[in-house]
Amino acid sequence: MATLHVLRFVWLAFTFISYLVPLAESDNYIVHMDITAMPKAFSDQHNWYLATLNSLSVDFSASSNLPTASSKLIYSYTHVIQGFSASLSPNELEALKSIPGYVSSTRDLLANVDTTHSYQFLGLNSNSGAWPVSNYGQDVIVGVVDTGVWPESESFNDEGITEIPSRWKGKCESGTQFNSSLCNKKLIGAQFFNKGLVARNPNITIKMNSARDTDGHGTHTSSTAAGNYVSNASYFGYAPGTAGGIAPRARVAVYKVLWDEGGYASDIIAGIDQAITDGVDVISLSLGFDGVELYEDPVAIATFAALERNIFVSTSAGNEGPSVGTLHNGIPWVLTVAAGTMDRELGAVLTLGNGNSVRGTSLYPGDSSLTQSPIVFTDKCDNQIELKKLENKIVVCEDKNNSISDQFFNVSSANVTGGIFISNSSDVEFFYQSSFPAIFMTPKEGEIIKDYIKSSTEPKAAMEFKKTFLGTTPAPSVASYSSRGPSFSCPFVLKPDILAPGVLVLASWSQISSVAQLKSQLLYGKFNIISGTSMACPHASGAGALLKGAHPEWSPAAIRSALMTTSDLTDNTLSPIKDIGLDFATASPLAMGTGHINPNKAVDPGLIYDATIEDYVNLLCALNFTAKQIQTITKSSTNNCSAPSLDLNYPSFIAFFNVKGSKSNSKTVIEFQRTVTNVGDEMSTYTATVTVMEGFQVSVTPEKLVFKEKNEKKFYKLSIEGPSMMKDIFVFGYLSWEDSGGKYVVRSPIVATRLQLD
Ligand SMILES: *[C@@H]1O[C@H](CO)[C@@H](O)[C@H](O)[C@H]1NC(C)=O
Ligand SMILES: *[C@@H]1O[C@H](CO)[C@@H](O)[C@H](O)[C@H]1NC(C)=O
Ligand SMILES: *[C@@H]1O[C@H](CO)[C@@H](O)[C@H](O)[C@H]1NC(C)=O
Ligand SMILES: *[C@@H]1O[C@H](CO)[C@@H](O)[C@H](O)[C@H]1NC(C)=O
Ligand SMILES: *[C@@H]1O[C@H](CO)[C@@H](O)[C@H](O)[C@H]1NC(C)=O
Ligand SMILES: *[C@@H]1O[C@H](CO)[C@@H](O)[C@H](O)[C@H]1NC(C)=O
Ligand SMILES: *[C@@H]1O[C@H](CO)[C@@H](O)[C@H](O)[C@H]1NC(C)=O
Ligand SMILES: *[C@@H]1O[C@H](CO)[C@@H](O)[C@H](O)[C@H]1NC(C)=O
Ligand SMILES: *[C@@H]1O[C@H](CO)[C@@H](O)[C@H](O)[C@H]1NC(C)=O
Repeated sequence: MATLHVLRFVWLAFTFISYLVPLAESDNYIVHMDITAMPKAFSDQHNWYLATLNSLSVDFSASSNLPTASSKLIYSYTHVIQGFSASLSPNELEALKSIPGYVSSTRDLLANVDTTHSYQFLGLNSNSGAWPVSNYGQDVIVGVVDTGVWPESESFNDEGITEIPSRWKGKCESGTQFNSSLCNKKLIGAQFFNKGLVARNPNITIKMNSARDTDGHGTHTSSTAAGNYVSNASYFGYAPGTAGGIAPRARVAVYKVLWDEGGYASDIIAGIDQAITDGVDVISLSLGFDGVELYEDPVAIATFAALERNIFVSTSAGNEGPSVGTLHNGIPWVLTVAAGTMDRELGAVLTLGNGNSVRGTSLYPGDSSLTQSPIVFTDKCDNQIELKKLENKIVVCEDKNNSISDQFFNVSSANVTGGIFISNSSDVEFFYQSSFPAIFMTPKEGEIIKDYIKSSTEPKAAMEFKKTFLGTTPAPSVASYSSRGPSFSCPFVLKPDILAPGVLVLASWSQISSVAQLKSQLLYGKFNIISGTSMACPHASGAGALLKGAHPEWSPAAIRSALMTTSDLTDNTLSPIKDIGLDFATASPLAMGTGHINPNKAVDPGLIYDATIEDYVNLLCALNFTAKQIQTITKSSTNNCSAPSLDLNYPSFIAFFNVKGSKSNSKTVIEFQRTVTNVGDEMSTYTATVTVMEGFQVSVTPEKLVFKEKNEKKFYKLSIEGPSMMKDIFVFGYLSWEDSGGKYVVRSPIVATRLQLD
C-alpha cells in the first residue's frame, strides 16, 4: 500500500473510492525484463514487449492477437524499469515467466492515500547562506510526483523568474480544465498518468482527466518545495505573512499520479520515468509503500534510476509513529524525512471572567466574538442528552482516556457556544480545523480553566480566534506520528535521515477542495494548513534544490550528506530536540535521523560522505538478494557481487547487537569503515570526538584527518565494542569531526540496538 503522508481533518479525509472492484480474472503487473535478451529483430523495446505479450497466446484468439496485445500493455518504461506494465491473466503471467529475458514481476500496488514561516524558521534569508549562494535555486528543476497542481495558484506566478533552462525536455499537457498555456517560467511542466488506474477499472470515469489538482496535496507539496513568494497569505487569518517555498526561484514540474479515483504503482513509476526523461534535478515524493522489500518497492526501484541520472530524491518517512520500525521509504539511495514542529502556534485566546487569559490551539475559520458566555466543566461531553442542557454555554471537556474523538463529535453536533478540549493526546491535531468554535488546551492550561470555574459563582469566558503566536518553545520537536526507524527494507542503513518542518504548514491549495467547514458549509481558499511527513518531505526537496543550485557537480549522496551532517541537534531553548511521541523526552536518531535540517550550514559542510552506484550494488549483494532481485533494481544483468558490503559509506551508523547465538557475558565489536571527501578549506585538520554511549566503547582510527587539498579523500574506521546482549532496546551517541579552525562540525549519529526486524 502506498500512503500519502498527510494528516487530514477527519471529515475532509481523502479516501479512495472502494467500489472499484478488481477484474475477475486479469490483474495488472509490473514486469521487469532483461533487454540484453532482446532479439535483434526488434527495433525497440516497445515492439519487443508487444510481441512478448502477443506470444502469450493462451488466452488470445488468433485473429485478434495484435490489438489484444497492445490493449494489454499499460506502459513501456524507459529509464526507471527495463520492462512494462500489463494486464495479465494468471495463465498469461505463468507463460510470461518462461519467456527469455523475463526477470521478475510484481502485482500493481494500490496507493492508498495516506508557508508563511518555515523558510524563516529554517533561517533562510537574502543576506547570506543558501538563498544567495544558490541564487534561490534558479537553475534547478524540482519534479513533484503527487496529486497534480492548481496552476493558477500565485505560488506558481513567474514574476522575477528567468527563462526556462534550455535542457528542459518536459511539457505542459492539456486535459480536462487544463490548457497547456497554463504553464509558465515557474511551473514548467504538468503531465498526468492514469493508464494503470484505467486498466484496472476499465469503466471508470476520471472526473478531472488532467494535471489539475482536485485534492490539494500536490499543490501544497510543490508550493512548499519551490513556490514563489505570495504576499498577504493566510488561512482565514491564521499564519499571516508572505508565503514562499524553500527554493523560491526553482522551477516546478508536476507529475500527477494520484487520483481521487485511486493511485497505482504503475502510474507512479510512469510519472517518475517521465520526470527522469524530462531532466528534473530533484524529485519530491510525499508517498510510500509499507512492508515491501527493496526489489518490490516501486519507489526504491524507480529512484535507483533517478540516482543513475544524478537526481536527488527526497521522500517522506510516513505517519505511523511513535512506535519504532514503522518507517517506510527506508531506501539507502534516497533522503527519508521525518516531521517536526515549528516555533509557531495557531490558535485562540480564552479570556476568563476574572480577566486572566489562556492560550490554546485552534484553526476554527469563523469570526471571533468577544462576548462573554457562561462556561461550564462537564465530564458528560460524550453524552448528547446531557449536552442538550448546556446550550448557549462554553463547555469544557477533559480527555480522560483518549476519548477526544467522541467528545469532539458529540460537542460539534450539540448546540453549544463553544468547546474547550483539554487533552494531551497526539490525535488532537486532527480536530483543529473545527466547524464550530473549539479550542484545544494542554492539561496545564486546563487546570487554570477548571480552577477558575470551581472558584467562581458565575463563571464566564470569551473566545477569540485567528491568533498566531511566534517564537514558541521548544521548537522544533519531533511530531508524535512521524514514523520511526529502523528501516524495514534495509535496517543496516540508519533511517530516517533528517527532520524538517511538517506540522501545521501553510501552503497553496486546490480551489475545488475544501479547506474548512463552518457549521454545514464547506469553505474554499487559496491556502491550507496541514501536517504530516508529506509536508516535511518537500522542505527537504527544496533544500536539496538549493544545494544543487550551489553545487551542480555534487552527487545525490553528497547533497544528502551535506544536509545530514550539518543538521541541528538542539531546539530554540538550546536543549536537545525533544520527541512529542515520548512525552518530550530527548529525540533519538530513530525519530529524527541526524537532526533538524539547516540549509544555510549545508551549503558549506566541510566534509561529505559520497557513494557510488557500485557502493549501492555492494549493499544489495550483501542483503543476499538473488541475482534477479538485484537486477530488478539495477536493471543490469551483470551486477558485480565480488565485494558485498552492508557497510555503505553513509553519514550515520547503526549497529545490531544481540546477534542470535551470542553468549550473554561476551563482548561484540562492530566495525564501520568510512571515506570522507574534503569540500571545505584546502588545508584543514579534523579531529574526531565521540559522545559517551553507556555500556559501549566507541573508538575512531585515525582520530585526526589532515587534508592538503580540496576533494581529497580520507579513510577512517569506527568501532563499537559492547555487550553481546544489550539491556536497553537502543543506545545512541554522536561522532563529530571538527576542524581545527572551528568552522566545521561534521556530525553523524550512532545507534546501537538489540531490535530484531526479521
Ligand atoms: C488555451 O488558452 C489560450 C489563451 O487563453 C487560448 O488562446 C487557447 O485557445 C486555449 N486552448 C485551448 C485548447 O483551450
Ligand atoms: C463495464 O461495462 C460493461 C458494459 O457496460 C459491463 O459489461 C462490464 O461488466 C463492466 N465492468 C465492470 C468491471 O464493471
Ligand atoms: C489580504 O487578504 C485578505 C483576505 O484574503 C483580504 O481581505 C485583504 O484585502 C488582503 N489585503 C491586501 C493588502 O491585499
Ligand atoms: C480506557 O480505554 C480502554 C480501551 O479503550 C478501556 O479498556 C478502559 O476500560 C478505559 N478506562 C476507563 C477508566 O475508562
Ligand atoms: C458520542 O459519544 C459516544 C461514545 O461516548 C459515541 O458512541 C457516539 O458515536 C458519539 N456521538 C457522536 C455524534 O459522535
Ligand atoms: C441553537 O441555539 C440557538 C440560540 O439559542 C437557537 O436559535 C437555535 O434554534 C438552536 N438550534 C438547534 C438546532 O437547537
Ligand atoms: C499525557 O498523557 C499520558 C498518557 O497518554 C499521561 O501518562 C501523562 O501523564 C499525560 N500528561 C499530562 C501532563 O497530563
Ligand atoms: C547473507 O548470507 C550470509 C551467508 O549465509 C550470512 O552470513 C549473512 O548474515 C546474510 N546477510 C544478511 C543480511 O542476511
Ligand atoms: C568486480 O569488483 C571487483 C572489486 O570490487 C573488481 O576487482 C573487479 O574487477 C570487478 N569485476 C568486474 C567484472 O567488473
